[in-house]
Amino acid sequence: MQKRFLITPGPTPVPPEVLSALAEPVVHHRAPRFTEILKQVVAGMKYIYQTENDIMAWAASGTGAMEAAVINVVNPGDHVLVASVGNFGERWKKLTATWGAEVTALDYEWGTKADPADIEKALAADPQITAVFVQHSETSTGVVNDIKAIGEIVARTDAILVVDAISGLGASDLKTDEWKVDVCVAGSQKALMVPPGLAYAAVSDKAWKVIERNTQPRFYFDMVAMRKKMTGDSAQTPYTPAVNLMVAQNAAIELIKDEGLENVFERHRVLGKAAREGVKALGLELFAVEDPEANSVTAVKVPEGVDGTKIGKIARDKYGVWLAGGQGQVKGKIFRFGHCGYFGHSDIVVGLSTMEMVLAELGFDVAWGASVGAAEQVFMNSPVML
Ligand SMILES: Cc1ncc(COP(=O)(O)O)c(C=O)c1O
Repeated sequence: MQKRFLITPGPTPVPPEVLSALAEPVVHHRAPRFTEILKQVVAGMKYIYQTENDIMAWAASGTGAMEAAVINVVNPGDHVLVASVGNFGERWKKLTATWGAEVTALDYEWGTKADPADIEKALAADPQITAVFVQHSETSTGVVNDIKAIGEIVARTDAILVVDAISGLGASDLKTDEWKVDVCVAGSQKALMVPPGLAYAAVSDKAWKVIERNTQPRFYFDMVAMRKKMTGDSAQTPYTPAVNLMVAQNAAIELIKDEGLENVFERHRVLGKAAREGVKALGLELFAVEDPEANSVTAVKVPEGVDGTKIGKIARDKYGVWLAGGQGQVKGKIFRFGHCGYFGHSDIVVGLSTMEMVLAELGFDVAWGASVGAAEQVFMNSPVML
């Protein structure tokens, strides 16, 4: 027997209340009971998104919602702007190009944030840009972009702002309406505390005007069809939804509401800070610019002389702990702790202590317990339950 821990930014651990909801008998998706569940999920997602906008939900991974966003707002030949700060920014580039857009890319050094002033300049340079695509939390680097500032800039133009909040929603503050985000996509398997399989989007009135005019061929991910079916008293989805995941999402929303969104964010802030302080106390370097709102992921540079490709394998095989490796251009150069969703102080302790043991085995001179000790000092001063 080996006890296993997911210290990854998705999939993330699932609370027992959500696991038991998953095991409930299957409800028929055309039954009134399912309509009730769907309405509760929509209301709960509006609370988490901090929005009055329409909520779309599909049986899909997060990339499904990204693709849905693209095919509903982009016509072939449209000019779009992508601000890319990592691997998932690259995905926006690939998706928009796949669906025929003329893509202008603002490429940032991985580990840094998108600069809103660059977005302002790019929009001014090409008034034909119809949509701006960016990440909220860029999971591959641990960076959280300044969506509030970007939202203000894009809102002054006719373009719409499309944000990937797949790992950020429910971990770092994101005020969809106040920050003027037009399409905001999310996935169930991160801070929303449900297994993979549900993809969401919150869609503004400004975006609906674009979507209704859009001629891109689309069927399963057609937002107009989804909105028609999902809104109103007899809400359903056009096609068979992931019924049990919806029941589970409802249970997870109850947990988030009980804790309170502000407390959820604060817990994540404390966990992020503890992870960062722990890493630094061991003499390691953080990969991303330090940011008190970087609540979903902590990325760490692999120290000199350590074979970064072995970290994940030893952590998993010997200690039962899943840490995330680097993706794309930083494969083997960084490793990452996830702490979005059902995470508490004990998960950070497990992650940091595993890091110490694994790095020691790979030849790094470890000051035993230093990272855990630094995290403990952060936990002791936490204003919220962990
Ligand atoms: C920021 C971000 N965008 C997109 C994705 C892709 O989501 P999925 O793997 O669920 O398709 C992820 C998943 O890790 C992510 O973290």
